[in-house]
Amino acid sequence: MSPHESGPAAGQANHPGDALENLSHEDRRFPPSPEFAAQAVATAEDYAEAAADRPAFWARQARELLTWSKDFTQTLDWSNPPFASWFGDGQLNAAYNALDRHVENGLGDRVAIHFEGEPGDTRSYTYAELTREVKKAANAFESLGIRKGDRVAVYLPMIPEAVITLLACARIGAVHSVVFGGFSADALRSRIDDAEAKLVVTSDGTYRRGKPSALKPAVDEALAKEGHNVGSVIVVKRNGEPVEWTEGRDLWWDDTVGTASPEHTAVGHDAEHPLFILYTSGTTGKPKGILHTTGGFLTQAAYTHKAVFDLHPESDVFWCTADVGWVTGHTYVAYAPLINGATQLMYEGTPDSPHQGRWWELIEKYKVSILYTAPTAIRTFMKWGREIPAKYDLGSLRVLGSVGEPINPEAWMWYREVIGGNGGKRQDRTPIVDTWWQTETGAHMIAPLPGVTEAKPGSAQVPLPGIAVDVVDELGESVPNGSGGYLVIREPWPAMLRGIWGDPDRYRDTYWSRFDNMYFAGDGAKKDEDGDVWLLGRVDDVMNVSGHRLSTTEIESALVSHPSVAEAAVVGAADETTGQAVVAFVILRGSAAEDADIVTTLRNHVGKEIGPIAKPKNILVVPELPKTRSGKIMRRLLKDVAEGRDAGDATTLADNTVMTQIAASLRK
Ligand code: PRX
Repeated sequence: MSPHESGPAAGQANHPGDALENLSHEDRRFPPSPEFAAQAVATAEDYAEAAADRPAFWARQARELLTWSKDFTQTLDWSNPPFASWFGDGQLNAAYNALDRHVENGLGDRVAIHFEGEPGDTRSYTYAELTREVKKAANAFESLGIRKGDRVAVYLPMIPEAVITLLACARIGAVHSVVFGGFSADALRSRIDDAEAKLVVTSDGTYRRGKPSALKPAVDEALAKEGHNVGSVIVVKRNGEPVEWTEGRDLWWDDTVGTASPEHTAVGHDAEHPLFILYTSGTTGKPKGILHTTGGFLTQAAYTHKAVFDLHPESDVFWCTADVGWVTGHTYVAYAPLINGATQLMYEGTPDSPHQGRWWELIEKYKVSILYTAPTAIRTFMKWGREIPAKYDLGSLRVLGSVGEPINPEAWMWYREVIGGNGGKRQDRTPIVDTWWQTETGAHMIAPLPGVTEAKPGSAQVPLPGIAVDVVDELGESVPNGSGGYLVIREPWPAMLRGIWGDPDRYRDTYWSRFDNMYFAGDGAKKDEDGDVWLLGRVDDVMNVSGHRLSTTEIESALVSHPSVAEAAVVGAADETTGQAVVAFVILRGSAAEDADIVTTLRNHVGKEIGPIAKPKNILVVPELPKTRSGKIMRRLLKDVAEGRDAGDATTLADNTVMTQIAASLRK
């Protein structure tokens, strides 16, 4: 199966038109079952209510889903666009909302987190226990001099301490900045510097495919050079491997958090107080620190988690498989499930450790009822074969979610039949919600509502109540049904990013300058005949590899920073499993071409500069790169080559023999 052949939402295009050509017709429809609809959290009335008065709809959600220490009088201030203020004069504490209030309401004994480590060790935290741990961590951070507004860098694996750290920061008003463990020491350092972090929370390491894997050495390397503000490093002991120790700076979690007082009173913070910074790749080399604030983010996180996943917190077990290093792990692991008082599963490892049925074993063991994962995982499971999940009882599942990239209809159908249908043991009645959103949007924006929306395989379908999404042409005009263009958001939404950390101009330029008064998401999209939205992939120089966002420019900069590389161009080529794969074309300097290991050297160099996740799958050494007369690299032609097609129209090239030269060199 090639994502390109597989239908409407599968294409990853650089121009919306490219993918539109791939659109086939999708006739399959899956209306909600009457039984599901009868118990559904979401209702069709939500759309009408929100359409009648958008801010009032969100104000109602804010008051119903959250507890405010000071109520707000103004819902939205949009007098200085694109800088929004939601619930501006209200105050609340995120950790109190996620924890203390549930304990006060008699839910202290409900399990908040079931944790399963990769080696099979388990821990469960009730709401009362998690509250206690977060209070201790809050006290420990304060005792190290961390105050409201200070930034804390978090470099942790998927273990409960990650959630505890985030909530402890939120409790005291410190701003967390999580850096995914797959990023290198250099990438970690640049994020520590940009946010001017004072504290780093990390672990000795984690487990990956049955083996210990280290994290602390990257922190040591990141902090080796002077010039940062980090005074303390708290280290969780996870895999027990030996670590280097810097006296006076490094502290074991057990010695600091473990010994701190479990008494801590949460005070309200302003609704617009910064909650976190999360770096994401853009079209330039430098990652952007996306800033989210408290009240609006939590409101939309909680509402979408309830409505889109049909959450019944008293009986559901929710499992979001995303790492806390990405936005999905922020919104739908660290915050929304706890705000909504749900029970969730957290798993440290990979899906194939120690065997390829691990996820299904976990679903059976914990009776997971809502599963939220990425299409790349589903395609991997398809490759492994349906007989693997068929060995387990998946009968507890009742809602399935997808996120991160377009889900091709074949993967959607497999997810529904094999996973939702419990390996054919029952009728495939489990709704699938394909959720479109971004680091910048903070929470779901486009998704069907289970029990309400008639589902179409491969389409994220409808903007959520209170969200104003449109598809527009080059001039910003709304396109008619049946046409494609650029995805935009026309009205401010509660969980919207409030800016790029330290760079208001870049915020305006990146998102608000392409079209007047509209947020430009960077995605191509199509409206079908019913007006439903189909996502078509990025239209800018951002790649999507296994649902992870990578910048072509950032990887190109990493490649040319190596002395052997004269020039580099990177494209995201269609890949059966990962959606896109990184393919680099490089021109080498001098005698570098004679080095037989040059490709390995360059892959490792990218790994060091950015992180293992950014290593190109293929590096092709070429004599020239295709450029226009104005010197712009024509990545479209390279994408053709990388995907094994004849290169398309090359008439605008400055030198039209270049593509022949490249083809000849690759044949060698
Ligand atoms: O291209 C879209 C794709 O992922 C991008 C956002 O990436 P990131 O900020 O890392 O957040 C990923 C998780 C929310 C989008 O611009 N994307 C995300 N979800 C979908 C999607 N593309 C199609 N369908 C989706 N459901």
